[in-house]
Amino acid sequence: MDETLLMIPGPTRVAPRVLKAMSENIVNHRSALFGKILSETTEMMSDVFRTNNKSYLITGSGTAAMEAAMANIINPGDKILSLVGGKFGQRFGQIVDAFGGQSEVIDVEWGKGVNPDEIGYALEENEDIKAVTVVHNETSTGVSNPIKEIGKIMSDYDALYVVDTVSSLAGDEVDVDGYGIDICVTGSQKCMAAPPGMAAITLSNDAWDVVDKVEAKSYYLNMKKYRKSGAAQPPETPYTPSVSLMYAMHEALDIIMEEGLVNRVKRHQIAAKATRNAIKALNLELFPDESVSSTTVTAVNMPEGVSDGELRGTMRNKYRVELAGGQDHLKGNIFRIGHMGNITHRELITTFSALEMTLRELGFEVNMGEGVAAVADTYLPNNI
Ligand SMILES: Cc1ncc(COP(=O)(O)O)c(C=O)c1O
Repeated sequence: MDETLLMIPGPTRVAPRVLKAMSENIVNHRSALFGKILSETTEMMSDVFRTNNKSYLITGSGTAAMEAAMANIINPGDKILSLVGGKFGQRFGQIVDAFGGQSEVIDVEWGKGVNPDEIGYALEENEDIKAVTVVHNETSTGVSNPIKEIGKIMSDYDALYVVDTVSSLAGDEVDVDGYGIDICVTGSQKCMAAPPGMAAITLSNDAWDVVDKVEAKSYYLNMKKYRKSGAAQPPETPYTPSVSLMYAMHEALDIIMEEGLVNRVKRHQIAAKATRNAIKALNLELFPDESVSSTTVTAVNMPEGVSDGELRGTMRNKYRVELAGGQDHLKGNIFRIGHMGNITHRELITTFSALEMTLRELGFEVNMGEGVAAVADTYLPNNI
């Protein structure tokens, strides 16, 4: 069994309790027993989304839920505005194209924040925009987008507000009803600390009004079918779900409820602060503007004279700590530290001591211990 410490922005390591839950034997997915597990899991999902609306679990990765969001609201030629400041923002635009919509884009420089007013200006100029997509936590750049503030602007317009919280839900502040989000999607394998392979989606009444007028562009991801099966007694999914992953999601959500959402978000916020403090203590540079940097993943500029292969290779092969690289044009230029899911000071201290040794070995000047000290300092009770 590989015990490498995963400090990547998903998938994350899961609690032994979750693994154990998955080892339960399979039950009939169309039975009262499974219906109970499904309804409890979707109810807890709605609690985590912070919505009074129903949630639906889809066997598939986060992208399946992004596709479900678009496949159910687009008629040919419909204009969908996407905020694009990284790879996952781009993905929404590509999905819009795939389902025959017309993708409009607000381009934001990767690593920078967006002025929420820009969305208002775009909606003023284009009255026929049907929906706006925003990625809350742009995992590729380590930028957190202001979904609450964008929600305030969206409340003045009819366009649906669609938010990807794949790498933020249960790790950063998300309040679907409070922010006026119409469709919110997420994945199992990041802050929720469940294994990869489950996606979740919730839709507001306004979103359902649109869905009811659109012929879904996907058979598997037809949300009307999920609604119908979910309302059956006992509740079901339209097609055979991954029963084992449903057990895992139930257990992972139980753990989230036990920790409490507020505590869990706070834990992620402290881990992010400790990471940023340690990066600065080692004279490394954050890639994004610090004011918009993510609560769940920190992107760091590759230090002068050090290659991505050497840095992440040494961390992985010698110290057994897995970091993530950059994507697209950021490949080789940044590395990313995921601090989502079950991460605490223990993992961060291990990561930064390994990073210090790695940098020293690769000839980058660091004062040994300063990154670790910055992590420890952040966790001292007076500093929290
Ligand atoms: C913000 C964001 N959206 C969407 C996705 C896609 O999720 P998946 O890889 O589970 O399909 C990811 C995955 O990294 C992500 O970080």
